[in-house]
Amino acid sequence: MMMATTMVMTSMKQKLDWRLWFFFNLWVVASLCGCDASHVTDSASSAEETTAVSVASLEGFSSTIYAFGQQNGCVTCHASRVNPQWQNPNVELAYQFARPFVDFANPVASIFASYVSNNHCNNPICNNPNNESVMQSLLTQWALIEVQQGSSTSGAVAGSTLANPPYVTATLPIPNPLPLITTKDIAVLRFNLSELTPALSNLSGAVLELSIQSFNTGQNEYKIFNPRIYGNLRSINLSGIHIYVRPASGSGLGTEDVIQGDRWADVQATVRSAATPSPLPDGPVTSLPSITSIVLGVEAQSEADVITIGFAQIR
Ligand code: HEC
Repeated sequence: MMMATTMVMTSMKQKLDWRLWFFFNLWVVASLCGCDASHVTDSASSAEETTAVSVASLEGFSSTIYAFGQQNGCVTCHASRVNPQWQNPNVELAYQFARPFVDFANPVASIFASYVSNNHCNNPICNNPNNESVMQSLLTQWALIEVQQGSSTSGAVAGSTLANPPYVTATLPIPNPLPLITTKDIAVLRFNLSELTPALSNLSGAVLELSIQSFNTGQNEYKIFNPRIYGNLRSINLSGIHIYVRPASGSGLGTEDVIQGDRWADVQATVRSAATPSPLPDGPVTSLPSITSIVLGVEAQSEADVITIGFAQIR
C-alpha cells in the first residue's frame, strides 16, 4: 500500500507516462492474443446518445482526420484500447469521441493538431512536426463542412468542469479494492436520486448506477463507465454529468479529474422511464441501456475516497 500512496501523489506528467505504458501493454497483449477489443471496453454497448449526426458531418469527419488516423497509425491505439476512441471502427461512435476535441469556430487550435507531434504515444507516429499543418488543414476542411450545414460550434471544448453543479447526488464511498479491469467483475455505485439536491419529483425512487473498476493493482485510477438511470417514473432529459472525488476525510464536493475524468460534460441524453429490476443484480443492470459509452479514467486521491455526481441540467 506504500506504493499505492506514492503513486497517487505522482504528478500529472507521470500519470500520462503511466497511462501510455499501461495502454501500450494492453495493446501488445491484445495484439498477441487477438482478443476482440469490444469485449474489453464495452465501447459498443448500446448507448442512448441523442446526438444525431448527419451524413454530411460523418463524411466530413471520415474523409479528413479519421482517414488520417487510419493511414498514420493512430488507429493502432485509438480504435478501441485507448480513449478517446476517435478511430473506432464504428465511424459514428468515432465521431462522437472526436467531436468534443474540435471547436469548429477555431479548428486549427484543436488538440488533434498538437497530438501528431507531441510524442504522447512514444512512437514516431505521434512525433512528426510536419503533420501538424497536415492535420490543421484536415481539421479546417471538416469544420467547413460542419459550419456549412449549421452545426453548432459551441460546447466543443474537450471536457469541461463545473464548479457548482445545479444538481448533486448524495456522496458514496468508493470501495477499495475495486475489481481490476482485467477481470470480469464489475462493481457498481448506486446513487439514490430521491436524495438529489434540489429534489426532483420525477426522480423520486430513481437510481443512478455507475460501473466502476480499477485500471491497476495500485488502485489509483478508477475506470468509471456505463452510467444508467432506472426507477424513474417519467422520461427525463439530462445534460452534463460530472464526477467529483475527494478523500473521505476531506470536505466539500471534491474535484473533477480533467485528464480523462470530465468527458461526460457533453453528454446529452433522454432516459426513458424504466422500472428498477427486482431483485437488483450484484453487478450492473445490463438489461438497460447506458447513457453514454464514453469510459472515464478518474485518478484516485486517497485509499478511502468518496464520490459525488453533479448534473448540469435535468428536466
Ligand atoms: C501507442 C498508442 C497511441 C497511439 C499510436 C496514438 N495515441 Fe493518442 N493517446 C494515447 C494515450 C495513452 C492517450 C491518453 C493519454 C494522453 O492524453 O496523453 C492518448 C490521447 C490522445 C488524445 C486525447 C488528448 C486528451 O486531451 O485527452 C488525442 C487527441 C490523441 N491521443 C491523438 C492521437 C493522434 C492524432 C495519433 C496519431 C498521430 C495518436 N493519438 C496515436 C495513445 C496513443
